[in-house]
Amino acid sequence: MKNKGLIATLAVVVVVLIGVFAYQSGRQSASQPAEETAVQEEVKTVGILQFVSHPALDAIREGVEDALEEAGFEKGKNLNIEFQNGQADQSKLATMSEQLVNKQSDVIVGIATPAAQALANTTKDIPIVLGAVTDPVGANLVADLDNPGGNITGVSDKAPADEQIRLGKELIPDATTVGMLYSSTEDNSKYQVAEATKAAEELGLEVKTYPIPSTTEITQTVQVMSDLVDFIYIPLDNTIANAMPTVVGEANKKKVPIITSVDTMVEQGGLATIGIDQYTIGKETGKMVAEILNGADPATTPVYTFKEGEVILNQDQADFLGIEIPQELYDRATIVGGEEE
Ligand code: TRP
Repeated sequence: MKNKGLIATLAVVVVVLIGVFAYQSGRQSASQPAEETAVQEEVKTVGILQFVSHPALDAIREGVEDALEEAGFEKGKNLNIEFQNGQADQSKLATMSEQLVNKQSDVIVGIATPAAQALANTTKDIPIVLGAVTDPVGANLVADLDNPGGNITGVSDKAPADEQIRLGKELIPDATTVGMLYSSTEDNSKYQVAEATKAAEELGLEVKTYPIPSTTEITQTVQVMSDLVDFIYIPLDNTIANAMPTVVGEANKKKVPIITSVDTMVEQGGLATIGIDQYTIGKETGKMVAEILNGADPATTPVYTFKEGEVILNQDQADFLGIEIPQELYDRATIVGGEEE
């Protein structure tokens, strides 16, 4: 009797154990397909339209891609990037905008103002993120920086034009005339030239403007202005950035210093700037793309702007031009060229 009772108890225990085990493994195999679908995540498509190739815009694009990866969007896994370079050609920009819309991009990035404007003319639905647009309101891209209102938001790389002009006067104290070199077709430059002109006049500098209609006029324009101005000022202008080696080559023939708006142009032979790191601009842009992919609404996402620029000086150019850099400036500047290379 005793044994029978024991066997019965054991049998119950075994049956219960088998039941629990079967239930558990059943649950596991039921949950496995769910895990697999989680791995096969949705693939997002990000279109990128870059206006033209120059070192600044290339660095911005790199920053965008790196920030996306840091935010968990990996190329070939859950991210597909459609990249187009407009080569500074308006009709190419229009066609490429169409293509990026047709690829059913979830978000499209416009790097530089003319690219962003082409995208804005093509879609009012797909979110557009501005990559380094100097003046998004003036370029008619957003209604208000804090409250963009439509399908567009992004990052402005607006630089401190007044500080840049003051830096020029500090480095070239005898200067009485500054020449503004920029493209007449870029909205971004018009705005900045107006700001720089105001600052220059406040310092008592005479301002001469040299708007160029296309790349072909650059060499001759720089030759002409080099005889008439004490230093050249260049805003965030893509056409000039793309031709920087030519500009530097011509200006150096007459030893005319160039104050730029961006670190990359100082690296290419400008004398100095107070500017924003281009790769950082790209990273901020990429972060915003990720936020929108994760559901943020461009209409209520404020445009990101930078508070402060960094002083960048080209030691080799200063030596070549015979310019003494004040110690105080030297101490807080990032130096390119010179011993560093
Ligand atoms: N801000 C420029 C625009 O709105 C683009 C730009 C970014 C740029 N970095 C630059 C232009 C450096 C010249 C040099 O189009």
